Amino acid sequence: TVRQGSYRTAYHFQPAKNWQNDPNGPMYYKGVYHLFYQYNPHGATWSNVTISWGHSVSVDLVNWGALDNALDPDSPFDANGCWSGSATFLPDGTPVMLYTGVNASNNQVQNLAFPKNASDPLLREWIKPTYNSVIPLPADVLNDNFRDPSTAWLGRDGLWRVAVSAQIKDSVASTLIYRSKDFRRWERNAEPLYSSGAAGMVECPDLFPVAEPGIQNGLDLVPPNRAARHVLKLSVMATHQDYYVVGRYDDAADTFALVGAYNDCRTWHRFDYGHVYASKSFYDAGKKRRVLWSWANESDPEPVYIARGWAGVQTVPRKIWLASDGKQLLQWPIEEIETLRKTRVGLLGAEVNAGGMKEIIGVAGTQADVEVVFEIPALDGAENLDPNQLLDPQRLCGEKGASVPGGVGPFGLLVLASSDLQEHTSIFFRVFRHAGKYKVLMCTDLRRSTKRADVYKPPYGGFVDIDIEKESGISLRTLIDHSVVESYGGGGRAVITARVYLEHEETNTNRMLMFNNRTGMVKVSKLDAWELKAANVNVPVV
Ligand code: FRU
Repeated sequence: TVRQGSYRTAYHFQPAKNWQNDPNGPMYYKGVYHLFYQYNPHGATWSNVTISWGHSVSVDLVNWGALDNALDPDSPFDANGCWSGSATFLPDGTPVMLYTGVNASNNQVQNLAFPKNASDPLLREWIKPTYNSVIPLPADVLNDNFRDPSTAWLGRDGLWRVAVSAQIKDSVASTLIYRSKDFRRWERNAEPLYSSGAAGMVECPDLFPVAEPGIQNGLDLVPPNRAARHVLKLSVMATHQDYYVVGRYDDAADTFALVGAYNDCRTWHRFDYGHVYASKSFYDAGKKRRVLWSWANESDPEPVYIARGWAGVQTVPRKIWLASDGKQLLQWPIEEIETLRKTRVGLLGAEVNAGGMKEIIGVAGTQADVEVVFEIPALDGAENLDPNQLLDPQRLCGEKGASVPGGVGPFGLLVLASSDLQEHTSIFFRVFRHAGKYKVLMCTDLRRSTKRADVYKPPYGGFVDIDIEKESGISLRTLIDHSVVESYGGGGRAVITARVYLEHEETNTNRMLMFNNRTGMVKVSKLDAWELKAANVNVPVV
């Protein structure tokens, strides 16, 4: 028997029912956080005609109230769907949405929507001006390859810019830039911001400035817009993955120079080495940080989730900032998640012997937040990594799973484990030696996460860019939420989100353990585990 009811998350964002995909137009306005999202009001699948913008509001990014849809496909310029888009604040502080409409002729076009009453902090109603669409389909782009306007930004020349995804007819994936004086009449730059012949269609561009390396404050897009570094993120349809790179954006020429990276965006960094897509960030002026949302879809078959009545979750909102090496972003669950922490158990200076396990007792394992720091007494014995293995960390996690003993690792957590451990999800590290240095691999292995055979349950993996010789240990934070296991390795240098569908009876005693399959002992210098309360996420108010 498949226990479907219990897969619903308790603090990851979901609408009360039905299908959701991309986060849209996230913003902070008059003390209220808004999240809009791709939503099918008519069922738990994506639909090529009825996609709308769901809308929820929050004061803490944790508890959410659902409002009526903000945008429905009811106009000639969006009759076949209100697709993804972004919010921009005009100089007077009013938000405006730019979004993709699939029009009555099935062309993708870009539209505007304004709040009906900007003095209402909840922004309940949105008006689409009849002069839409404001950016028609360009002649050199196929009708279904033109979408997902970013947040717009104001250049020093007083012109607005917006990035839109397109695949030019000769198959070059492009991030086009349009400029406008008045936010209504837009003109395309001759040169795209980014293009690649290799990646196929790329979607959902996000371009944002970052503060100096190591500074956790976020930066807003408008004005001033002169950060030394920007991040460009793209979603690649073919791989269903998001990639980002740090670069230098020139706000006069609208060019973006990659810093130490290849042009093919599939070689860039990943926000997540697991299962998320179509992420979008916003500047939170309340807490002066940049916050990222990402969609995690279901990994079990469509008929099964249709029967369940809902599909898709958002990852927890993550604060993102540039790491002190200036090369990659760090990500961390927004601090407000910690308000859900209740029962805590802690350990200091425990040891897990070679081949051993240690149970984390006292915290129910289906809604939990676990932070642990592993210390490795010595790095000798680290296995050698050959250059091929370096290219495919996911495959490496498959070959060197939790049960394959090694020199330095695998060690980590087993979560959502059944009492007989037949079902368990393992999150672990393994240290390799490569070119005179050490490489830390992080894996989330789903192969034994469930006995259900109809589920996508791969091993996921990524490298954690830390200098293990200098650090005192490797940290892991894992957020467990029924069918979500979201793990942050090395203080947020590598993140893996996975969807897990237990077959075993889900009870409050779902087991959590630390394990060590290396030849020597591993020290757990610190462990804190909390059971989490359920948040109010779009629960209808009675
Ligand atoms: C990405 C995406 C976007 C599009 C939306 C439609 O997941 O395909 O490109 O706007 O979803 O729902």
